[in-house]
Amino acid sequence: MVKLENMKNISLSDSVINLDHGDPTAYEEYWRKIGDRCTVTIRGCDLMSYFSDVNNMCWFLEPELAEAIKELHDAVGNAATEDRYIVVGTGSTQLCQAAVHALSSLAGTQPVSVVAAAPYYSTYVEETTYVRSVGRRRVGFRQERKGPCIELVTSPNNPDGTLRETVVNRPDDDEGKVIHDFAYYWPHYTPITRRQDHDIMLFTFSKITGHAGSRIGWALVKDKEVAKKMVEYIIVNSIGVSKESQIRTAKILKVLKETCKSEAENFFEYGHEMMKNRWEKLRGVVKESDVFSLPKYPEAYCYFFGKTLGSYPAFAWLGTKEETDLVNELRRHKVMSRAGERCGSDKKHVRVSMLSREDVFNVFLERLANMKLIKSIDL
Ligand SMILES: Cc1ncc(COP(=O)(O)O)c(C=O)c1O
Repeated sequence: MVKLENMKNISLSDSVINLDHGDPTAYEEYWRKIGDRCTVTIRGCDLMSYFSDVNNMCWFLEPELAEAIKELHDAVGNAATEDRYIVVGTGSTQLCQAAVHALSSLAGTQPVSVVAAAPYYSTYVEETTYVRSVGRRRVGFRQERKGPCIELVTSPNNPDGTLRETVVNRPDDDEGKVIHDFAYYWPHYTPITRRQDHDIMLFTFSKITGHAGSRIGWALVKDKEVAKKMVEYIIVNSIGVSKESQIRTAKILKVLKETCKSEAENFFEYGHEMMKNRWEKLRGVVKESDVFSLPKYPEAYCYFFGKTLGSYPAFAWLGTKEETDLVNELRRHKVMSRAGERCGSDKKHVRVSMLSREDVFNVFLERLANMKLIKSIDL
């Protein structure tokens, strides 16, 4: 029998639950406990100028944010920061567009394809279409290579949590350029197996700590010309990035780094336990159901935690063994999810956020456990 003891107090309300977006509210409870240590006071006369650091090529990057980013990567060991330009963006969404703009405008006169292996993060398609409509270079999203291309590698991948390498571009291939999106390469989601060291690496504050509303992301970029073009894009797009958000992010990242040394308050430990617990419950429901499926992830040695661990991705890539339109089936049970087709996959898969508040997650499990699927043949 599925263990639903923890869910008994939850009345199965009639409301629709939205697990389509990856809104990371799961971590609110942790930050509530941290209390005023992350509070930032900003006076009316503070942070008024457009400029943060005129000596930096990315002149709108607050120096204390740059320092906090480097310190955090050093503490976690997930990415190399030395000899790189840090470009701050309004979320990594803006940076991804900036990187596509930079690489495509440095690619000469030919049209450039943007490729990502399916299943992929569906927003890339919209982002790429947007860059194409404002840029002079033709940029189109594809699932396979045709001519010069920019490859998006998301690892761990959104939506299916797998670890990814390049598929179409080889490292020695100077025609091809790669953007590595490491939104989820943090110890609560996946073992930190190496210090990543690629040309363009994107990170987002949203998925590390759950502060998506601050809209802060950063890129670690090796090549000066690429970094310059990215900065150019952000200037045209938004003349920099909110200083209030940068200062708040710097403060929270510093507290986060300090907690890495603490047994009781270690954020990554907390996040890891929470995600592990949620995945175990979900796997329990899926096992009982006999109609759903989930990917399996190998264990690996995590240098951050100093032990062998599993992966607990931020999204569940839920499949069904039946010929069913799963997104509609879930909708019938008042659960919103992202259709597999939007991620370049099929109707039998959906992406479900694992980062909702606890009560919402438990309602999801209960609804999933009660679901009877209707085969599309019968519809
Ligand atoms: C792989 C990936 N990259 C980027 C983003 C966007 O992050 P941000 O909130 O920084 O724009 C997300 C958000 O879901 C994501 O899943």
